[in-house]
Amino acid sequence: MPSITHNPPGPQGWPWLGVLPEFRKNPPEFLLKVAREYGDIARLSMGSQRIYALSDPEAIKDVLVTHQTNFKKSRMLERARAMLGEGLLTSEGEYHRRQRRLVQPAFHRDRLAGYSAAMVEIAARFRDQWKPVASLDLAQEMNRLTLAIVAKTLFSADVSGEADEIRAALAQTLGLFDRVLMPFSEWVERLRLPPYRRFEQARDRLDQTVYRLIAEHRSSGRDTGDLLSMLLLAQDEESAGDPAHSRMTDRQIRDEALTLFLAGHETTANALTWTWYLLSQNPEAEAKLHAEIHEVLDGRLPTWDDLPRLRYTEMVFAEALRLYPPAWGIGRRAIEDYRVGDYAIPAGSILLMSPYVVHRDPRWFPQPERFDPDRWLPESIAARPKFSYFPFGGGTRVCIGERFAKVEGVLVLAVIAQRWRFRLVPGHRVETKALITLRPKYGMQMDALLATQPSVPVRRQS
Ligand code: HEM
Repeated sequence: MPSITHNPPGPQGWPWLGVLPEFRKNPPEFLLKVAREYGDIARLSMGSQRIYALSDPEAIKDVLVTHQTNFKKSRMLERARAMLGEGLLTSEGEYHRRQRRLVQPAFHRDRLAGYSAAMVEIAARFRDQWKPVASLDLAQEMNRLTLAIVAKTLFSADVSGEADEIRAALAQTLGLFDRVLMPFSEWVERLRLPPYRRFEQARDRLDQTVYRLIAEHRSSGRDTGDLLSMLLLAQDEESAGDPAHSRMTDRQIRDEALTLFLAGHETTANALTWTWYLLSQNPEAEAKLHAEIHEVLDGRLPTWDDLPRLRYTEMVFAEALRLYPPAWGIGRRAIEDYRVGDYAIPAGSILLMSPYVVHRDPRWFPQPERFDPDRWLPESIAARPKFSYFPFGGGTRVCIGERFAKVEGVLVLAVIAQRWRFRLVPGHRVETKALITLRPKYGMQMDALLATQPSVPVRRQS
């Protein structure tokens, strides 16, 4: 019988700092290199933190699903509390369970069907503003678009007037996450240096908007069919008869709304941006996408009922999420000692599971760098282990917006591809930047070309 060893293999790195300097340069690529060199489990030290990178689908399933009660969210997300309070992303245990139950109805199928009309309408508004051969930063356009969708569906609000301000505040907040992995970051926060004060200002700015919208909704007392109405109406059946606990307070609603605002737009925006990039590099897949959209829609705008027939569009989006999963790393902290195969993982360690790494494993995805939507044909899916693909996480903490994002992805792609194709602007560099989400480091500068134009050259990045 093999002996239990306490130390899986892993790179050494610098004294005390460990692999932190190399990790920070490009976290997902670093993790990919580590997995290729050391296998399904590797030990990484960063300062005083013990981190274990896991890339075996079965072991990932065990952490996220089978043994999930043995874990908490990682420190990175705990630190997000300063911004998000006790929202779904950051809360734990019984409180999380209750909040999840209260928020879940907002993502019910019937509600999504209602949101889909807003998704289509907003995407159509964006596509109608663009001009042929105009160069666009699609990263920015997709961010504006998904922010507008989340604002409309969440709050029935048109935030176009204050969108740039809100986006700046959200960007400021996400920027703070980037610093969380720096050594001494907690002390830096306590010193309340200018970056932290800017973060507080950004938070106050967002609070202003969210509290105003809550007040407006409360005073109207109507169910306007949006998420915020749902949150205001959400009644916890298990606490029925105890009014003090059955409804959410303004503070709780603020935390959930801000969480959904933040989690619900940046991720989908990145997924869409990478999809346009991948399509521009793969004209065959692009042509098939256009053919499907033409056949199913014949020039009219899509509706909820068209979704089952937009299969190839769905496969394109799934494949883009494979290559560029916006949530590139999912972390869990072990509450008690844990075991992975022959290795003992001490309590307090972080298990880091990266969809970016696992989605590029040739055991599950041969020629992993190749963009191939046909990987999403039912027989191909059935041949792979479930957690070989987990862009939305898993277990009780699985993304609550998974279906929302998929519906949004397919509808936005269909509406925009009906009119446009995109090609990289010559000389534009495409690289990833992994903050809390995986973004294109230099934006995504592309020329908009009419979809009807017959032959469109592919432009590779320089
Ligand atoms: C392509 C788009 C999206 C991706 C890739 C994505 C990915 C994820 C992942 C991986 C998690 C789990 C994190 C963990 O276990 O530590 C998560 C959680 C979450 N996501 Fe998403 N997400 C997307 C879109 C959305 C949307 C559209 C919304 C809301 C409108 C949303 C709201 C949330 C919330 C609230 C959580 C926390 C759930 C909980 O812990 O109960 N996400 N997301």
